[in-house]
Amino acid sequence: MQYDTVIHGGTVVTPHETFKADVGIAGGKIVAVAEHIPGGERRIDAGGRLVLPGGIEAHCHIAQESSSGVMTADDYYSGSVSAAFGANSCFVPFAAQHRGQSIADVIATYDGRAAPNSVIDYSYHLIISDPSPAVLDELPGVFARGITSFKVFMTYDLMNIGDAGMLDILTVAKTHGALTMVHAENNEMVKWMNRRFAQAGLTEPRYHALSRPELAEEEAINRAISLAKLVDAALFIVHVSTRGGAEIVRREKFAGSKIFAETCPQYLALTRADLDRPGTEGAKYICSPPLRDHETQDALWQHIRSGTFESVSSDHAPYRADASGKFLNGLDAPYPKIANGMPGIAMRLPYLFSEGVGKGKITLGDFVRLSSSNAARVFGLDRKGAIAPGFDADIAIWNPEESRKVDLHMQHDNMDYTPFEGMDIRGWPELVMNNGRTIVEKGVLKAGRGEGRFIARKPVDTGAMPGHRAVEFEVAARYGHEVAP
Ligand code: URP
Ligand code: ZN
Ligand code: ZN
Repeated sequence: MQYDTVIHGGTVVTPHETFKADVGIAGGKIVAVAEHIPGGERRIDAGGRLVLPGGIEAHCHIAQESSSGVMTADDYYSGSVSAAFGANSCFVPFAAQHRGQSIADVIATYDGRAAPNSVIDYSYHLIISDPSPAVLDELPGVFARGITSFKVFMTYDLMNIGDAGMLDILTVAKTHGALTMVHAENNEMVKWMNRRFAQAGLTEPRYHALSRPELAEEEAINRAISLAKLVDAALFIVHVSTRGGAEIVRREKFAGSKIFAETCPQYLALTRADLDRPGTEGAKYICSPPLRDHETQDALWQHIRSGTFESVSSDHAPYRADASGKFLNGLDAPYPKIANGMPGIAMRLPYLFSEGVGKGKITLGDFVRLSSSNAARVFGLDRKGAIAPGFDADIAIWNPEESRKVDLHMQHDNMDYTPFEGMDIRGWPELVMNNGRTIVEKGVLKAGRGEGRFIARKPVDTGAMPGHRAVEFEVAARYGHEVAP
């Protein structure tokens, strides 16, 4: 057998096993995993290193306009470069429909942004803000192209599609085996809180966190799951930030509902006290749902450890701390007029490795699941997320001993701050591959613009999850009416 590359002497990690092995790569695929593999045009010495599946970043905003029209600082070049430096070999940003746009136009726009620029493999989740009959009719064509997940919002006035809109989308998704993702916060609660703070003249960034109560997330998660259960559709709850929300997810999962969920590093590493930073600093920590407190961090780690979350995603939403981003409406704009979101695509895995594996909160197998293999399974990337013959050679070689202090320079993004500045990290990706191409090696970018491929994804796999059948549809059928989704 001729190998393009052999990675030798490393410790391979899968979700269930950690073992010494060589990895043989040919034609961009992993073709052998064995105790000793001779040959190879290139031999990479991975002695003392961990050989892991490349990360799959399943929640990031790249070259995307927010609902109020603010463009992210990262495009598909800088966003994918930053992802690659953070040990990712594939990402799935959003293609966002704003009201009035056809889905065909949205996809064409994002193809134009991604294809010439991405240095790593990519797909999109389609954001739907306007589920009109014409838009619902376009969705089968989207699935046919391999875009098998979409996201809806229960908050933000220009994005919120309401409960009936969600039921329509969940129903179409179920028909096609697509996965609906949801940003779950109760819009009316948030708006009511905003009015109260505005009337009291409380407009500094710290009130952003208070204006989006934990109960707003918990209520919306509960409602979203009820809607999904009514039509027995699969649902993925993004960026869970509360103990109560995680507990609902856990309960429903173990009751057999087709529910998946993620949390994000910022909810584990930062708190609402970060919004109290002086001057314009607090605005850098505005994101939705907002940062919480130390007790919540402990609870979320407990849920990570015990399997409530499929993945830990960055929710990289990069808006610079200047007039192009956070301060589009002025340096002293009230918090509702400051762009929501923070960067973190390069820090997601180093943080999870250092804080999770390094401090004994999760195992190496958990790390592989949370960073890569679960996202591959849930989002239909069937050739990714594993070190095994037949899979894409998407590999990250980690030095578990290398220590770094986080700074902006190591993000390689287009941002002017990192919320993780100054954090001490132990464990660092030395070499990252996508389809057998070395894309980052010892801090140097090796990948070329546009070398990433669009990946057509498979339908969601709900495996043996029993789901839910609403009795009312059965009764209607007995009355002679077929109204089931
Ligand atoms: O604050 C955040 N997370 N901004 C990005 C948009 C979203 O809500 O995911
Ligand atoms: Zn969101
Ligand atoms: Zn997001």
